[in-house]
Amino acid sequence: MQRKIGLIYEGKAKKIHAHEDLDKVIIEFKDDATAFNAKKKAKFDGKGELNCQISSKIFEFLVENDIPTHYLGLKNKNSMIAQKIKIIPIEVVLRNIAYGSLCKQTTIKPGTVLNPPLIDIYLKNDSLDDPLLTKERINLLKIINKKDLETISDMTLKINKLLKTFFYNIKLNLVDFKLEFGYNSEERIVLGDEISPDNCRLWDLNQKNGIIVSLDKDRFRNDLGGFIDAYTEINNRIDIFINSKQNKC
Ligand code: TMP
Ligand code: ASP
Repeated sequence: MQRKIGLIYEGKAKKIHAHEDLDKVIIEFKDDATAFNAKKKAKFDGKGELNCQISSKIFEFLVENDIPTHYLGLKNKNSMIAQKIKIIPIEVVLRNIAYGSLCKQTTIKPGTVLNPPLIDIYLKNDSLDDPLLTKERINLLKIINKKDLETISDMTLKINKLLKTFFYNIKLNLVDFKLEFGYNSEERIVLGDEISPDNCRLWDLNQKNGIIVSLDKDRFRNDLGGFIDAYTEINNRIDIFINSKQNKC
């Protein structure tokens, strides 16, 4: 029996639609941009398509490098097909350079290199404003067991190494990023959500005089302008890099 195709869930930046195969979903990327837990909102024509295209190319790169992800393929310009997963309600942020909330909440200076990188785990809960968790709070809330949390930390560090190289190849410095994970139908932990300039801080390595040039959602968060231009620039750099690699083969 075929199930009716319909909307399962609408988030701030994406809609999840049912797929006729019950183990899969269709993820549609919206043109909406939100910041500060949706206190700030706007719509940018073409944002959904850009994030879908960027994410799909990054997921393909990660899959080629043995990272298990939910990504199965593109459906169209702004939708991808993914495994249906049970999302683990934590947001895993890895920071290579101190910036953003870390500098607002502590005395660390923006731009400080963090070696080893810092992993911060937040509760995925909009009504509580995604609070920072401790390992003890994670245990207390029984969100995830110790072994699976370790698996996620190890995966995050491995993804960081891969992404740092990926972005370095296109002249971008990966400052920090946020990941989400879930269990697939085989109860395996896989990387979910998206990887795009919405959830990564990316600084242009072509910058001059030590001025930070953000090619990510900070352009919207901090009213810097040139939002779609920045996302388009990243998508173009990725395409040029992928094409140059293919021409070498
Ligand atoms: P933060 O400095 O605001 O904590 O953000 C760290 C990184 O996580 C940054 O790349 C943006 C990303 N992020 C999200 O993707 N979603 C969120 O809700 C937040 C707060 C941050
Ligand atoms: N993702 C969050 C929001 O949509 C916060 C952020 O990215 O700044 O509001």
